[in-house]
Amino acid sequence: MCGILGYIGNRDCVRFLIDGLKRVEYRGYDSAGILIYDGKNTSVVKQPGKIIELEKLIGDSLKGNAGIAHTRWATHGEPGHANSHPHVSNNGNIFLVHNGIIENYTSLKKKLEKESFTFYSDTDTEILVNLIQFYYAGCIENAVKRALADVEGTYGIGVFCSEEPGVLIAARMGSPLLIGIGENENYFASDPASVLKQTDEVVYMQDGEIAVITDSKVVHKTLDDVLLEKDVEKISFELSEIEKSGYDHFMLKEIFEQPRTINDSMRGRILLDEGTTKLGGLSEHPEIYSRLLNAKKIFIVACGTSWHSGLIGEYMIEEYARIPVEVEYASEFRYRDPIITPGTVVIAVSQSGETADTLAAIKEAKRKGATVFGICNVVGSTISKETDAGVYLHAGPEIGVASTKAFTSQVIVLALITIDLARHRNMSFREGYKIVKELKNLPEMVEKILENSEKIKELAKKFSSASNFLYLGRGFNFPVALEGALKLKEISYIHAEGYPAAEMKHGPIALIDENMPVVFIAAKDSIYDKVVTNIREVKARNGIIIAIASESDSEIDLIADYVIKIPEVTNLLSPILTVIPLQLLAYYIAAEKGYDVDMPRNLAKSVTVE
Ligand code: F6R
Repeated sequence: MCGILGYIGNRDCVRFLIDGLKRVEYRGYDSAGILIYDGKNTSVVKQPGKIIELEKLIGDSLKGNAGIAHTRWATHGEPGHANSHPHVSNNGNIFLVHNGIIENYTSLKKKLEKESFTFYSDTDTEILVNLIQFYYAGCIENAVKRALADVEGTYGIGVFCSEEPGVLIAARMGSPLLIGIGENENYFASDPASVLKQTDEVVYMQDGEIAVITDSKVVHKTLDDVLLEKDVEKISFELSEIEKSGYDHFMLKEIFEQPRTINDSMRGRILLDEGTTKLGGLSEHPEIYSRLLNAKKIFIVACGTSWHSGLIGEYMIEEYARIPVEVEYASEFRYRDPIITPGTVVIAVSQSGETADTLAAIKEAKRKGATVFGICNVVGSTISKETDAGVYLHAGPEIGVASTKAFTSQVIVLALITIDLARHRNMSFREGYKIVKELKNLPEMVEKILENSEKIKELAKKFSSASNFLYLGRGFNFPVALEGALKLKEISYIHAEGYPAAEMKHGPIALIDENMPVVFIAAKDSIYDKVVTNIREVKARNGIIIAIASESDSEIDLIADYVIKIPEVTNLLSPILTVIPLQLLAYYIAAEKGYDVDMPRNLAKSVTVE
């Protein structure tokens, strides 16, 4: 979603601001803009479309030692010039970039209209910048604080005032924001990727905080003026991790990174000799952790791909640890008054750790007295801070909008939690040992599937002009069917549905004809025979069968039209292997169609609005 960035120092910052915006392109945006102060004058350049177009428009025309910049993902108003950021106050002195949503903008607008303010855009941001002007009486810090006291909603903001050009103001409530520390220069940014080329030293801001930034120092306060001592932290990833490193797209790079990322998610967490697992993020909080071990009921809340991994978590935890689990879309959980009784534990799953719906569900669960655990990828993200305890994925930055490596790492972490819970309850050493041993072999097995990518590419060429796909799976692989369908529709814009294989005959079977590719996830597991029956049902109606099947399965070669073989693994870990060909199939189909795989239309990497 939107990205914000600011610089104050002694260097020309135009290049840095443009490059920094490019680093957050992956988050999704539809317009971009920049304000530069050259020591005398301010210039704003903004427009709908890609950053490269903004860069062309700027050419060599801008130079300056202070500036703020923005990528916007439209919420209030279409992605036109007037709605793009930075926004400027009526008197032309105050400039604002803003992520988030001002919920009470209508009443604030009325108040300002009575004071003769005029508005030129449809945005809530323009109202805020004029509210800051309304309160301005010689000190921009105070004006921002007074204005924010009137605001309901979420924001990460950066402010420049031409009457006080030596200072930038940043403030945060619900939208991520950090300060980058340089030498005689400082930055603010919504994403560490924007500043990493300049500095790896950052201070993460929390909700209700404001930072007063000059070239030589940064003062942190609460919005009600209490001075804060904040720790400087190191960004947890390397520059190479946010570059394509020779791959055509980040998504492809991330698919191929999975042998390593799966390993990173397990590293130091497997106790082979004890046939179990240990997650520091849980065991270091014994009192909170014991609530998970003794949970009477677990809710898993998440959105999109993370919701799919949550569904696999449900299958795992119920089958192996025998604790009842309910998986909820975070957006539904919040509004449907879920029943939370003593002993209820909520696990929130999120790659970004910033998803607004998931955050809202966490707040609601806490308000009702539940203990909340987080499974997040982004270190220091809001969800990781809002939860009582949790586990990081350690999958490294995920830039491709379509989530791939985060999904497999989420499933790994849920498997690790399941084994830990089950071994405390009813799982024998023998069974625990067998599963953790197989876990250790997964990276190699994934590597083997990836070696087969050319075959999947060929298949993608055959089917890139299909207009519908059906994905079917059962048991642990039913959520993989949902995930395969989601991947395909997100990046190739082909309509795809995922179903439990047996459910097909209750409706979707009507869609099947000789033009319908049906992807079956048919790994050799306890319900393999049932899946084969479902395959025959599709075959009998002339559907085209693409099967993801186990290496040793020769029977499937006789029924399916196309077969992709994968190594054999125990039921619970099967999704980590079966999803890989589906990720590749979606990728190669979208690439074949020439689409911008890393930035699919209308999608944002981190959905920070409800
Ligand atoms: C799909 C995808 C989205 C996200 C969803 C939740 O490829 O990326 O469906 O999974 O928006 O995001 P996180 O996991 O960041 O909470």
